[in-house]
This record gives sequence, structure tokens and C-alpha cells, in this order.
Amino acid sequence: MNLNQKIAVITGVSKGIGEALCTQLLADGAIVFGLGRNPYSNAHPNFTFISTDVRNYAAVESAFLQIDVATSKPIDILINNAGLGYFGNVEDLPMEQWHEMMQTNVDAMFYCTRLAVPKMKANGKGHIMNIASTAGLEGMPMVSGYCATKWAVKGFSESLWRELRDFKIKVTCVYPGSVKTDFFRNSPNIQPHDYMLMPTDIADMMVYALKTPDNFHQVNLEVRPLQPKGPKR
Ligand SMILES: NC(=O)c1ccc[n+]([C@@H]2O[C@H](COP(=O)([O-])OP(=O)(O)OC[C@H]3O[C@@H](n4cnc5c(N)ncnc54)[C@H](OP(=O)(O)O)[C@@H]3O)[C@@H](O)[C@H]2O)c1
Repeated sequence: MNLNQKIAVITGVSKGIGEALCTQLLADGAIVFGLGRNPYSNAHPNFTFISTDVRNYAAVESAFLQIDVATSKPIDILINNAGLGYFGNVEDLPMEQWHEMMQTNVDAMFYCTRLAVPKMKANGKGHIMNIASTAGLEGMPMVSGYCATKWAVKGFSESLWRELRDFKIKVTCVYPGSVKTDFFRNSPNIQPHDYMLMPTDIADMMVYALKTPDNFHQVNLEVRPLQPKGPKR
């Protein structure tokens, strides 16, 4: 698909993978609407920031209405990227952190998808990308809450691509290992470092998948740092 003038919506655009995706999509000619809480400015004429806490369905609905008003065209690309992790022993994980992860990583993906799909169906095409994690493929001690949310992203994505393929809508689930972003701010034992994946490389991979021919569907994209802790010798 040629991305020129395609309408793309990205959740969690202010930093990290979302920001890298935004930059890459704009460079490829897409018209990008970025949803997030903290203001994010990008001078590109094809970029619009919509202040949205994606945990709030009314706010997400209002953001999609604003997108409708701003462009008469249907959404071509939805990237459910906003997310966060809290870590620790299950008995120590505060209730509010469990709920914040569930609401951001899972509920918001459902909200945005249910608002985007009817127009994609009517338009006869679309591409939804959900950012899970390798934590959505395996369980890890002290990561139970975050893993639970990303396994939910996996289940949602795997169901959805089968549900939507006959409407010519692609659903791709992305499973990155550690990426050098602010994600690790809640994880005092892990500092971002240069042996992690780079957010720009994740963005490049995803944009490649967005550009594939209509009958070519990358269902899952699993990527890991080759040497996540650096060379052993
Ligand atoms: N970094 C990694 O190692 C890694 C690995 C695998 C998967 N992932 C996943 O990749 C995605 C992006 O993470 P990242 O590494 O880029 O982390 P990041 O740098 O912390 O960025 C997270 C983004 O999500 C947004 N966000 C969080 N809560 C939000 C809310 N309630 N409403 C709207 N936006 C919200 C943040 O914006 P505001 O705070 O400004 O709202 C920010 O733009 C997440 O789903 C994460 O789980 C990350």
C-alpha cells in the first residue's frame, strides 16, 4: 500500500515507539492523528494531536468524532500502541496499577478498534496493528499483570484477523522484546541501553508491513534483540 494521504491513527504518540511511528508515517506521506495525554507537538502539516486519555471511552469516542470532522476520509490505519507496565510480586501489585494496565493496554485497544472497524468495513479495507510484547507470548515472574494484558492483546488480535480478513481488513500483532524507550521507568532494575531494540527499527518494520500488497498479510511480527544483555564474549 502506498501510504501517501492515508489516514493513520496512533495511540500513545508522545514518545517511544508511537513517536517513531508518527515520524515515519508522516515521512511516507500519511495524514496522522496522534492520541495521547501529554501534549505532543510536531510541526508537520499532516499531523494533528488530539488530547485523549485512551482509558476513557467517551474521550476516545470524541477523538474519533474529531477525526471524522477533520477529514472526510475513513481511517486506513489504526495503531493501538499506548501501553505501560508495572512489575512486582503479585501480592504487592497495587490494585490501581493492575487496573491502569488493563484499561490502557486492553480496554483502549478494544475502544479504538470498535470505533474504527465499521468505517473500515464500509470502505472495504484497513489495517489494524496492535502492539503486544514478547510478554504476550510467555509468562515471566514479577510480570504477571503486564503479561496478562499482553496475552489479552494476542487473543484479541488472533480472533480479529480471522473475523476481519473477509472484509479486506488486516490485523497485525507486534511482539517486540525490550525496546529502548521510557517504558522501563517503572522498573528500577532495568535501565534502557543500546543492546535493546530501537523504537525507529520497530517503526520501520511496522511501516514495511503497512506497505505490503493487499493480498499479503503479516499476522504476527515477533522481534527480539539479538543479544539483549550485550555480547557474552
Ligand atoms: N519498550 C519496550 O521494551 C516494549 C516492549 C514490548 C512492547 N512494548 C509496548 O509498546 C507500546 C509503546 O511503549 P513504549 O516502549 O513506546 O513506551 P513509552 O515510551 O512509555 O510510551 C508509551 C506511550 O503510551 C502513552 N500512554 C500511556 N498511557 C496512556 C493513556 N492512558 N492515554 C493515552 N496515551 C497513553 C504515553 O503517552 P502519555 O503518557 O503522554 O499519555 C506514551 O506516548 C506499549 O504498548 C508497550 O507495552 C514496549
